[in-house]
Amino acid sequence: MTYMTSPEIEPLVERTAAASACGQLSGAIMSRKLKIPFRTTVSVLLLLLSLNVVVMMYLLISCRPTKKEEHKINTEKIRVLCWIPSMKERLDRVRAVNETWLARCDGHVFFINNVKPNFSDDVVVSPIMGEGRKMLSRKVKDAMEYVYDYHGSDYDWFLKADDDSYIVMENLKFLLSHYDPSQAVYLGHPLKWLSPGGYMQGGAGYVLSRTALQTFVVNGTKGKACQFELFFDGEDHYVGACLHKLGVPKHNTLDRHGRETFHSLNPVTHISGPIPSTQLVQDHFTMVAGDECCSELTISFHWVDAGLMRTIEHLLYKTSVYGRQVNVEKFKDFIQPGTLAPPYTYIPALEIVVPPKRWK
Ligand SMILES: *[C@@H]1O[C@H](CO)[C@@H](O)[C@H](O)[C@H]1NC(C)=O
Ligand SMILES: *[C@@H]1O[C@H](CO)[C@@H](O)[C@H](O)[C@H]1NC(C)=O
Ligand SMILES: *[C@@H]1O[C@H](CO)[C@@H](O)[C@H](O)[C@H]1NC(C)=O
Repeated sequence: MTYMTSPEIEPLVERTAAASACGQLSGAIMSRKLKIPFRTTVSVLLLLLSLNVVVMMYLLISCRPTKKEEHKINTEKIRVLCWIPSMKERLDRVRAVNETWLARCDGHVFFINNVKPNFSDDVVVSPIMGEGRKMLSRKVKDAMEYVYDYHGSDYDWFLKADDDSYIVMENLKFLLSHYDPSQAVYLGHPLKWLSPGGYMQGGAGYVLSRTALQTFVVNGTKGKACQFELFFDGEDHYVGACLHKLGVPKHNTLDRHGRETFHSLNPVTHISGPIPSTQLVQDHFTMVAGDECCSELTISFHWVDAGLMRTIEHLLYKTSVYGRQVNVEKFKDFIQPGTLAPPYTYIPALEIVVPPKRWK
C-alpha cells in the first residue's frame, strides 16, 4: 500500500535549443514580410498579414518554454515541527543545533530538564519530565503529549531529533512530499529488533505525520493502549512498539538506488567505515560503508557533536564547488513511497515489559 500524493510540480523556466530555433524562425517570417513588393494590392497584404498573425500565434504558443521533462517539487507548503529532548549538561549542543539546521524547521521546541523557568521561549521545562537518559522514554511520552496538545494542528509533520542529530531539512521535505500527512506515516532509520514491528532509531531522527502523532497520543499514551516504563533509556523502541500496536506502519526512506537517507551513526563511520558488527543484528537493511553508504539526498546523521555540527553546516551551506550545477531532473522518481514489510526476524526483548536491572 502506498500513500502517494500528487506533489506540486513547478516547471523550471529554461530557454531550450528548440525555443531559440523558434526565435530564428519568427525572425525569418518577419524579414519575408519586409520583402513583400510595395505595390501589392491591399487585399493580398491583408491576407498575408492575417496569415502572419496566425503563424505568429502558433509560434508564440509552441515557443513558450516547454514544460520539457524538467520538474522541481515545491516543498514550501510542507510544515515541519522539530522537537528535541536535551539536558542542562548539554547546552553546548543545544546552542549548536539552534545555530545550524534548526532554523530551517517551520517551528521547534526543546525539552530540557533542570534549567531555570523562562530559560528561553523555545524551551519547555517540566518537573515531571525525568532526568537524564534513564528517564528518556517517560520524557518522550510527555514531550509527544505536549507537542500534540500545543502544536498538533499547526504542522503536517513532527520530527523528533536528538541534540547530536544533524538534519538536512530540504532533503527531509523532499522525502515528505511523497507522503500524505493525513495518513498514519512513520519514517526514519528502520531497525528490526526489540519491537515486533521493528522501530525507527532515535538518534537518526524519526518523523510522524499529523495523523500518526494523533494516534500515538490519543490512543496510545492518553488512551493507555501503550504503557511507558519510567526507568528505561530506550525511548525509540517504545515509540515503535506503541505505533506497531496501534497499526501505524513504517514507511520507506531508501532512495531509488537502495541507499539510506536517515543515518544512525556518525558520518565518518558511515563514509569511512568500518561498520560495527553490532549493526547487523539490529538494522532492517544491511549497512554498508563507503560510496553506497548514503543517499545523495541524505537527511540525517547521528553522534554529531557541536564542532562537527558547525562543520557540516559550513560544508553544506557556506561552501560551493566552483562550476558544479545540480540538475533536479535526476531526482525524478528518486523516492518510491510505500510501507516497509515487517522484518522477517526480530530479536524480541523482554526489556519492553521488564526494564533492565541496572536501572532498578
Ligand atoms: C515566567 O514568565 C511568565 C510570563 O511570561 C511569568 O508569569 C512568570 O512569573 C515567569 N516565571 C519566572 C520564574 O520568572
Ligand atoms: C535559539 O535561537 C533563538 C534566536 O535565533 C533564540 O531566541 C533562542 O533563545 C535560542 N534557543 C536556545 C534554547 O538557545
Ligand atoms: C483510536 O481511538 C478511536 C476512539 O476511541 C477509535 O475510533 C480509533 O479506531 C482508534 N484508532 C486506533 C488506530 O486504534
